[in-house]
Amino acid sequence: MSPVAVAQPVNLEDFVRKDDPKGKKFDAVSDAIDDINIAKLKDQPVVEEVDNAYDASEFDSSKDKDTFRQFVDENEGSRRFYIEQHTKQTVDFNREARRKAFEKPRAIMGIWEAMEMLNTLVDASDPDTDATQIEHLLQTAEAMRKDGKPEWMQLTGLIHDLGKLLYFFGSDGQWDVVGDTYVVGCEFPTEKIVYKDTFKDCPDLNHPVYSTKYGIYEPGCGLENLLITWGHDEYLYMVMKEQSNLPQSALNMIRYHSFYPWHRERAYTYFENEADKQALKDVLAFNPYDLYSKSDSKPDPVALRPYYESLIAKYIPHKIKW
Ligand SMILES: [Fe+2]
Ligand SMILES: [Fe+2]
Repeated sequence: MSPVAVAQPVNLEDFVRKDDPKGKKFDAVSDAIDDINIAKLKDQPVVEEVDNAYDASEFDSSKDKDTFRQFVDENEGSRRFYIEQHTKQTVDFNREARRKAFEKPRAIMGIWEAMEMLNTLVDASDPDTDATQIEHLLQTAEAMRKDGKPEWMQLTGLIHDLGKLLYFFGSDGQWDVVGDTYVVGCEFPTEKIVYKDTFKDCPDLNHPVYSTKYGIYEPGCGLENLLITWGHDEYLYMVMKEQSNLPQSALNMIRYHSFYPWHRERAYTYFENEADKQALKDVLAFNPYDLYSKSDSKPDPVALRPYYESLIAKYIPHKIKW
């Protein structure tokens, strides 16, 4: 863990986006993306050859998964979102985004403060929205707690989407924050990527190297060596890898939770190494809590805070750099 950073008070007004003052556009897109993955998970239950060391999630076993909204392929908003993501997430963009991410910290704050910041900046007052950001984080963590999952995993559930703060830290739009992730620098396995027909304007599509099966990588090189599209997963992974003592499985859950082409569709298996077998188990154990806890009853942040602050204190410094 790095030394505790000196905190400056965070002025929320500095982070309000002029093009989306209440974060409503962002909230709508985030929800639409989740709806697609919920519906797809229901339609295509994962049957894995993996010997999953984790017990299956139980909290959702009695839930009628049919109540989740159907994946609608003609959903224009989601389609527009993915056209932009699939066009703009290039190798050059991804290298630059990683370089710029930690040039200087945008804020120094603790986990709970970051949760409140995200919750304030994204005003989920749309009646169709089932949960605010803070509620979604708490629902994910509480569902894990109910199933007796270890403390580090509950904490991972609590923080997993905090990388969405990127949207308020100077991201270009939403395409570089949310959405399913995939690999750049090699051929796009479009059959296994949502809205597969939306890559035609991507400058990397016909690149002499990036368009080949392995592209800039070697077979078996391990997922950790791939440039996976930049967004809230990779950003929070980088923050936590440097500044927490969360176990590797927690880092895997954070880093790959939106990597549906890999963990659900099983694309990119030719890049996996031994460590990725565990990473797959980690993400598959995490995923139901992220998706299915959305219909759970609303948690009370005030009542739950002391418990989660005690978990945070075990793994993450009081203040960290964002
Ligand atoms: Fe997420
Ligand atoms: Fe989530």
